Amino acid sequence: MKPFFPISKISKITSNMLIQPFFIDQKIKDKKPIKGLGKNYSWSSKKINQALEKDLKKGVKNFLLFIVPNQKQVLPEDFSFHYDVIRNIKKQFGKDIVLLIDTCLCSITPDGHCGVSQHKKIDLQKTHYSLGVAANTYLEAGADIIAPSDMMKNTTKYLKKTFQVNGFNSASIMSYSTKFKSNLYGPFREAAKSSPLGFDRSSYQLPVNDRDKAIKSSIDNAAQGADYLMVKPGMTSIDLINEIKSNTLLPTGVYQVSGEYASLNYLHKEKLGDYTKLLHESLLVFKRAKADFIITYGARDIVSYL
Ligand code: PBG
Ligand code: ZN
Repeated sequence: MKPFFPISKISKITSNMLIQPFFIDQKIKDKKPIKGLGKNYSWSSKKINQALEKDLKKGVKNFLLFIVPNQKQVLPEDFSFHYDVIRNIKKQFGKDIVLLIDTCLCSITPDGHCGVSQHKKIDLQKTHYSLGVAANTYLEAGADIIAPSDMMKNTTKYLKKTFQVNGFNSASIMSYSTKFKSNLYGPFREAAKSSPLGFDRSSYQLPVNDRDKAIKSSIDNAAQGADYLMVKPGMTSIDLINEIKSNTLLPTGVYQVSGEYASLNYLHKEKLGDYTKLLHESLLVFKRAKADFIITYGARDIVSYL
């Protein structure tokens, strides 16, 4: 199958390489603003299709969904809300849309951790089990790409194995393969209701000062079968993209995370800079650093500017 995001040979940003994140929250009736994220909202499952349609008309084709269910689960295995959301979207838009689904447990676990934990420690086996149920449910519903963001050891390998068992042999994984423990995830954690309790994420997210570890993390994920690699946050990881690519020969992208996007918005709000120009500049730097795709909360605002 042709990759959705091939290794890019051109020096321009194109709409095909941009990915727009979206939040869907079971608790919400209509839509709710997300602090710091401008025109990005948390949507209800009823309104999400309308919102997607609007962006599609603007020329955005690729979407990354964060689905936030009502019910917290100690051992997550009920992903029926996720299933319904994905299925409804795919029913309406089919192949017009590329649907990536963030696959993690932090919006579901009672303590907001990305895995199942006990006594302030992640239980890897239980975490993999839940992630496997989630990912296969999303594929059954019609997801195009599974994007595991938990960053636990061997998740990519585990998921690929479950895809084989369930007959999803060609299912693709976009791994959050180099993901730092960062202070730039603030607005996201409010929207995803995923602030961790009890202990922080340093047992599974990377320290920003360790270059070798950061590169190795992506190489590991490539070896486990990831189809796309990603670094995150974007602006604090640009020096890693090219090295990861030349080591793995895989398409490698960046995630301009909520905090870095929000900072551009604030400059605009305080009349200290122009939003569209700030956004464009920041994305051009990702491109210069050789990113093959870019996840940004501003995708819908930049497609007509390119
Ligand atoms: C959680 C997840 C996070 C983001 C994407 N998936 C936050 C975290 O790791 O705490 C961050 C995205 C953003 O800030 O825009 N698995
Ligand atoms: Zn998570």
